[in-house]
Formats: sequence, structure tokens, C-alpha cells
Amino acid sequence: MNSTVDDRTPHPPASGRVTLHRGDITTDAAADAIVNAANSTLLGGGGVDGAIHRAAGPALLAECRQLGGCIAGDAKVTGAGRLPVDRVIHTVGPVWRGGGAGEAALLASCYRCSIEVADTAGCAVVAFPAISCGVYGYPLEEAAAVATAAVQAALAAHPRVREVRFWLFGDAAYSAFERALHRPIG
Ligand code: AR6
Repeated sequence: MNSTVDDRTPHPPASGRVTLHRGDITTDAAADAIVNAANSTLLGGGGVDGAIHRAAGPALLAECRQLGGCIAGDAKVTGAGRLPVDRVIHTVGPVWRGGGAGEAALLASCYRCSIEVADTAGCAVVAFPAISCGVYGYPLEEAAAVATAAVQAALAAHPRVREVRFWLFGDAAYSAFERALHRPIG
């Protein structure tokens, strides 16, 4: 990993480094890391977690067993087994409890910590699912606003992370993220 940042190198603005994709995140061969919306055990589950473990094979679960779990809002990294990327970054989103239980701060932390971990691991292109938007019940519009703002702030702080690729399942998720991305911040 290159541990120096050349401040003379111009970096594209954070807003131009986010792309939207439809379908299965496990097919993304253009990313260096795929982020998993895991649970705090890091031992697998349904949804995108199940798809990532199925595609990666048993080596991923074996590595996850060594991590000792993960708290909501944090992120940990492993290899990627048979996935066509170098790393899987496991993060744990908040369960939606109506919005008054710190969900937005925890969700933003998932994106921020995952990008920090990606940068430290030398991953320049990072694929994310819509964390917490399935089993954990986070409403799509609210989640998309938090996700896009958190990612753009983290990209501005981590210029070596060149691109974030959001993988969205279904039209509702895709449109919510598209609207959030094109909404002016502030
Ligand atoms: N590629 C991209 N997005 C996907 C895929 C896929 N292959 N599969 C599902 N999604 P969820 P959560 C979308 O439930 O809400 C697990 O059991 C899905 O439509 O995977 O953070 C964990 O172990 C939704 O928009 O994650 C935890 O127990 C989004 O990914 C719990 O679920 C996230 O849905 C985590 O719940």
C-alpha cells in the first residue's frame, strides 16, 4: 500500500466519485472491496450477507470467526474468498426503531468507517449495498440521504478512495439513491 498522499495531485470532487448500479453486488469485479451489511456476530445471515458468503465460499466465514464480532456503526476487513475483489469490509447497520434511537448517526458511521478501513487496506474502489434497508427496516429515502451525505464527506477526507459504487436491489432503492445523490447538500 502507498502510505503517502501527494497533495499536489488533483482529486475529482467527492460528488463525481459516486456511481449507482442495479443488481447483485457480488458480481462487481471492478471494485477492490465489497462492503457487507452484516450482523454483529459477523457469522453470516440472509440478504446481501448471505449472498456475499455464498459467493465467497467457506474461507470468508473462517476469517470472520477470527474477528470476534463487530458493533453497530463499526467496520472490519477480511479477504474475499472466491469473490472477484481483494477484500470484504463487514459493517453492521442499525436496526430501524423509528428514527429516535441514533439510527442516522450509526448508519453514517457504517459508511465512514468502511471507507476509512478501505483506505487503510489500500482499496481505491469500494462497492456498498444499501446498508440496513432490508431486514433491518431502515426507510429507503432516509437511508439514501444519510448514505450519500456520509459517503461524500468520507470521500473528501480520503482522496485515495477513488470511487464508491452503490449496488441497489430494485427500482425503489435505485430511485431513492438517485434522488439523494442529485439533491444539493446543505
Ligand atoms: N446485492 C445488492 N443488494 C442486495 C443483495 C445483493 N446480492 N441482496 C440484498 N440486497 P439486508 P440489512 C439489498 O437485509 O437491512 C442479514 O441477515 C436489500 O434489498 O441484506 O442491513 C444480516 O446478517 C436491501 O436493500 O441487510 C443481518 O442480520 C439491502 O441490500 C441483517 O440481514 C440490505 O438488506 C442486516 O440487515
